Amino acid sequence: MNNNDENRKDKQLEEYRADNRGKKMTTNQGLHVSEDEHSLKAGDRGPTLMEDFHFREKMTHFDHERIPERVVHARGFGAHGYFQPYESMAPFTKAKFLQDPSVKTPVFVRFSTVAGSKGSGDTVRDVRGFATKFYTEEGNYDLVGNNIPVFFIQDAIKFPDLVHALKPEPHNEMPQAASAHDTFWDFIANNRESAHMVMWAMSDRAIPRSYRMMEGFGVHTFRFVNEQGKAHFVKFHWKPKLGVHSLVWDEAQKIAGKDPDFHRRDLWESIEMGNYPEYELGIQMIEEEEEFKFDFDILDPTKLWPEEMVPVKMIGKMVLDRNQDNVFSETEQVAFHPGNVVPGIDFTNDPLLQGRLFSYTDTQLIRLGGPNFHELPINRPVCPFHNNQNDGYHRMTINKGQAAYHKNSLQNNDPQPASEEEGGYVHYQEKVEGRKIRQRSESFKDHFSQAKLFWNSMTDPEKQHIIKAFCFEVGKVKSKSVQQQVVETISQVDVKLARQVAIGVGAKPPENMDDSVEKLTSPALSQEKTIKIPE
Ligand code: HEM
Repeated sequence: MNNNDENRKDKQLEEYRADNRGKKMTTNQGLHVSEDEHSLKAGDRGPTLMEDFHFREKMTHFDHERIPERVVHARGFGAHGYFQPYESMAPFTKAKFLQDPSVKTPVFVRFSTVAGSKGSGDTVRDVRGFATKFYTEEGNYDLVGNNIPVFFIQDAIKFPDLVHALKPEPHNEMPQAASAHDTFWDFIANNRESAHMVMWAMSDRAIPRSYRMMEGFGVHTFRFVNEQGKAHFVKFHWKPKLGVHSLVWDEAQKIAGKDPDFHRRDLWESIEMGNYPEYELGIQMIEEEEEFKFDFDILDPTKLWPEEMVPVKMIGKMVLDRNQDNVFSETEQVAFHPGNVVPGIDFTNDPLLQGRLFSYTDTQLIRLGGPNFHELPINRPVCPFHNNQNDGYHRMTINKGQAAYHKNSLQNNDPQPASEEEGGYVHYQEKVEGRKIRQRSESFKDHFSQAKLFWNSMTDPEKQHIIKAFCFEVGKVKSKSVQQQVVETISQVDVKLARQVAIGVGAKPPENMDDSVEKLTSPALSQEKTIKIPE
C-alpha cells in the first residue's frame, strides 16, 4: 500500500465491508437458507425442533450482540478524516507524520461524553472526550484527549474513586448527569485538586454547541524527541476552525429532551452535506532546561500552561470528511490508548498519564473480548505488524511455521527487532533517581491558583453562567453537609462566587464577609442580587 495515500485506511476497510444487495441469504456457514420467517416445527401446531440449525444460529448470534459499554466515555460518535502538517516539525520531533506537508495521514476521531451510559443524552453538562487515531506509516498514534485542558485528579490511583463518584449512584443508578448529585460533590469537596477542573466543568465549556465547535487537549505533558535525541516538553491542542461555541443551559436541557442525539446528528449531517469539520493541531513547547522555571510543576495535570507564557503554535490541520459505515464496527470497536505512540513522541512522568498507560489495554481486554482486538478492522494499523504473539480468543491471523518465539534457530520466521535507525522505538533516556515514595513536588499541593486564574479570566456573563451552574448542580445535592463543604471549597477560589452559590442553594455563606450580597461588575447582571436555583 502506498504510504502517502490519504485513503489507505479506507482501502483497508473496504476488504471488510459486506454488501448484501442482490445476494441470496445464507447461514454463517455459507449454506443457502430457504425460509427465514417460520421455525422448524413438529406438525403445524407442534413445538420448535432443536434440529432447526438456522433458527438456533440466528437466535444465538442475536443473544450475543451486546458487548460491555466503556467504563467511562460510553456514549460516543466517530468520523474518518485526515491530518496534514503545515510544515516539517523535524527540529522537534522525528515522528514521520509530522515531517512532510504534502503527506495526509488518515485518522479516525471519536467524540464522547464521560459519565452517561451509551444511550444517554448528548447535551448534558459533562467533559467531552476527543480521541484521535492517526494511522501513520510507523504504526498507530493515539491522541486521547478531552475538551478541557486539565483534569480532576493528579494521580491515576484516584481515578476509580473519581469515576465511582461521578457515575450514577450505585443504590439507585441515578442520575445519568455527572454533576448533579451528592457523591460527585462530596468527591469534589474532599479532593481539592479538582477545584480547577470543576470551574471548567461548571463553565459553558461543558455544554458545547457542537463537536465541530469544541477544542481538544492532550491534557498531559508529553515529549517530542528529534532525530538527534533532543527532547522538548509538549502539550497538544485541537482548535476548531469554526471557533468555540457553547449552548446555554436552558437550550442544553430542552435539546436533551427533544433530540438526545443532537451532537451526533450535527456531526453526521455536516459531513453528509460536505461541511467538513476542521481542527488545527497546536502545540505548546518547553525546553528541557526550563522544566523548573514555572511556579507550578509542568507535570501536574491539574495545571495548564498559560498561553501568554507558552504560546500555542499551529502545526497542522485535521479534516473530518467521511462518516463511518457502521457504528458498532467503528465507534464501538475502536480501541484508543495513550500508550500508542510512534518514534519522536514520548511520555513524561505525569502520574496521571503513567496510570493511563496501564488502564486502557486492560479495560479493552474485557470490553473487546481478549487480546486480539488490534486485528479488528478499525484498529488495524495501515502498516504491517509482525511479532511472536499468537493465539487467544478471536485470533484472525494465521501464523505459519513450527516456532513462535524470539531467537529461534529452527525456522527463518523470527521477526527481528529494528534498530533506532531502522525505526525501532527507543524510549527517551530520561535520568531517573530518587527514593520510592508516594508524594509529588510541593507545588502539586497548590489547588487554587489556576482555579482563581480561570474565574478571573471570565467575563461577567460567563461568571453568571458558572454561578447558575453551581446553583443548579449543587442545588440537587441532598446532603446539607456536602453543600456546605462545596461552598467552603469554592470560597478558596472566590468568596463572592461562594457566597452567590451559598445563597442559591440555601447554605451558610462563607464567613468573613458582610451580609450584603456582592454585586458583579456588570450593571445589567448585578441587578440579579440573589440567584434562585434554576428549575
Ligand atoms: C476512555 C481510563 C484519564 C480521555 C477511557 C477508558 C478507560 C479510561 C478505562 C475506557 C477505554 C475503552 O473502553 O476503550 C482512564 C484513567 C485515567 C483517565 C485510568 C486517569 C488515570 C483520562 C484523561 C483523558 C481521558 C486525563 C483526557 C486527556 C479519555 C477518552 C476516552 C477515555 C477520550 C474515550 C476513548 C474513546 O472514545 O474510545 N479512559 N482515563 N482519560 N479516556 Fe480516559
